[in-house]
Amino acid sequence: MKNLFFGLISLLLLCACAHDTNTERSHSLLPIPQEIQATKGCFTIRKGTKLYIKAPNEDKSAITNALALWKELLEPADEKVTGGIAMEICDKVECISSPEGYTINVTKERIDVKATSAAGLFYATQTLLQLADGGNAIPACTITDEPQFAYRGLMLDVSRHFFGKEFIKKQIDAMAHFKMNRLHLHLTDAAGWRIEIKKYPRLTEFAAWRSPAIWKDWWFGDRKYVEEGSEGAYGGYYTQEDIKELVAYAAERYITIIPEIEMPAHSEEVLTAYPELSCTHEPYKQADFCVGNEKTYEFLENVLTEVIELFPSKYIHIGGDEAGKASWPHCPLCQKRMKEENLKDVNELQSYLIHRIEKFVNSKDRQIIGWDEILDGGLAPNATVMSWRGTEGGIAAVESGHKAIMTPGGYCYLDSYQDAPHTQPMAFGPYMPLEKVYSYDPRAEIDSTKAHLIYGIQGNLWVEYIPTEELVEYMIYPRILAIAEIGWSNPSDRDYAEFKERAIKATDYLRGKGYNAFDLANEFGQRKEAQNPVEHLATSGSITYAENAPYSDGYKAGGERALIDGVCGGWTYTDKKWQGFIKNGIDVTIDLGEEREITSVAADFMQMCIPDVWFPAKVTISLSNDGENYKEIAEINHTVVRDEGLSFKNYGWSGNEKGRYVRYRAECGPQRGWLFTDEIIVR
Ligand code: ACM
Repeated sequence: MKNLFFGLISLLLLCACAHDTNTERSHSLLPIPQEIQATKGCFTIRKGTKLYIKAPNEDKSAITNALALWKELLEPADEKVTGGIAMEICDKVECISSPEGYTINVTKERIDVKATSAAGLFYATQTLLQLADGGNAIPACTITDEPQFAYRGLMLDVSRHFFGKEFIKKQIDAMAHFKMNRLHLHLTDAAGWRIEIKKYPRLTEFAAWRSPAIWKDWWFGDRKYVEEGSEGAYGGYYTQEDIKELVAYAAERYITIIPEIEMPAHSEEVLTAYPELSCTHEPYKQADFCVGNEKTYEFLENVLTEVIELFPSKYIHIGGDEAGKASWPHCPLCQKRMKEENLKDVNELQSYLIHRIEKFVNSKDRQIIGWDEILDGGLAPNATVMSWRGTEGGIAAVESGHKAIMTPGGYCYLDSYQDAPHTQPMAFGPYMPLEKVYSYDPRAEIDSTKAHLIYGIQGNLWVEYIPTEELVEYMIYPRILAIAEIGWSNPSDRDYAEFKERAIKATDYLRGKGYNAFDLANEFGQRKEAQNPVEHLATSGSITYAENAPYSDGYKAGGERALIDGVCGGWTYTDKKWQGFIKNGIDVTIDLGEEREITSVAADFMQMCIPDVWFPAKVTISLSNDGENYKEIAEINHTVVRDEGLSFKNYGWSGNEKGRYVRYRAECGPQRGWLFTDEIIVR
């Protein structure tokens, strides 16, 4: 397949040289199609080239609009003609089982496209546009193509910072170009409510506005909301007319917008605008709805009724993540509800709410999606699970016969660093370059009998640290291209080096269209220490951990020998190369096997304060010949202070000593939290 593809690329270049003035860029296909066979020559679109489309009128206009690049050249036709382009919806197309699939046959004389739905024709137009690479010549080839997954999504958080409808349309255009089909909008959260609800005007007059504008200043400040139009008010919302416009714009590109209305948590803004819906009825006090109060259901159902009228999406996302549930054990109404409904804990109380909301949503002929916490306390009967805290939620969902959308944080959270952190704007999560995203397989770990329940994949962009449109695009592109390709293409065709070449070209294309994509061609790359194993005196020795200072089971890296295995960590503590300590710091003794001359002992630590990872306040290094009597050779003190982002610090000694045993101790500062180190290098 790949050889055929490379053949096509060279053919494409030849073709472009022969017929087209735009000879510079070669725009290879992304996502890569299932089957592509290059043949000889090109079809050239000229003035008057006939375009025949057999599809319902609405789709006809969507497909015609998708081919706007050739608007001045193409002429609509009522029948297929030689020398023209024919695009047809057929009852059946050989080798295609997905309604989004298509076949293309390009010869010098004509282009024939077949699909079983308009979406398939639309994706064929995107393939033709990619093949033409901005010009008028399309290399001769045959393509049979369809997606691996029906759901290929991007989630955009528009609450933490707000982005207007024109910006959303621009992202929809890019999604369509790469054959993505779901835009999940995280419309409500503490930082601002973003959709007009006629019945509850305070949601947008008040709960959509705050000061200051930058989320982190607001969140770590007083977290107050302000009136719309007041001085310094930052925020915004989509009016119902805006939503209709966005939904229609997306639909014309065969993209469904899935609205997310958060419940029962992440709802500080609602509970400040309508405090009677919280357990204590006080503004600015609660994040979770009162699940005991009937008014909560009345509110949520009224909101969902308006939402369902606006969004034709079969799926409505109801959040469900990260409920603190702190007020529920003390709330008389919640306690009463638990008693009446025989609910044994607060997880079951959350599950009660989700079940009830599901029933309501189902009564409107729609289905719910929830974050994987909706599994806790019992999954609602028809719910689809969005697996974000790893893959376990998705696995559990499909095991019990539910659909799952895979969006595990370690692969799909686009708010994490895409390159060496010191070269990047501040990000939220750890190092997750394009290569890491591309390595994800949504069906990995899934029993083959359940694989059909994996509905698809989604990249999520949370924007706590992303205040501008430029930065949103920077974080999305090109990593969403990996999500697009995983969602569409055959996993057996995956080859990162080859994908990266195509992604660089796609990034050039995006930049040419005004998207602020990350400069993939000039990626800094992995931490240099992590690129090759290191040999040193301790790698042939042994190590013991003090009983009261074990490493954490959750971050054991290479286990018992992790700190002397010659393997150094990369830009993130989640890469299974950094060993984590949460209890009593680090206290290890390395036995070199015999007395050695020692000129240095050193270890790197990382600090990332948001997930509670800190530098040590004190490191002591001691040597011994007999394992009993130690001579301290170094004490390194450091004042640990909170900072932003990710940093590394080496705690080491150099000199000239002899010894067989090396004891290395690291103590936490006043913040306590985690210590992470990767290797104690003894030379
Ligand atoms: C999430 O990231 N809280 C779904």
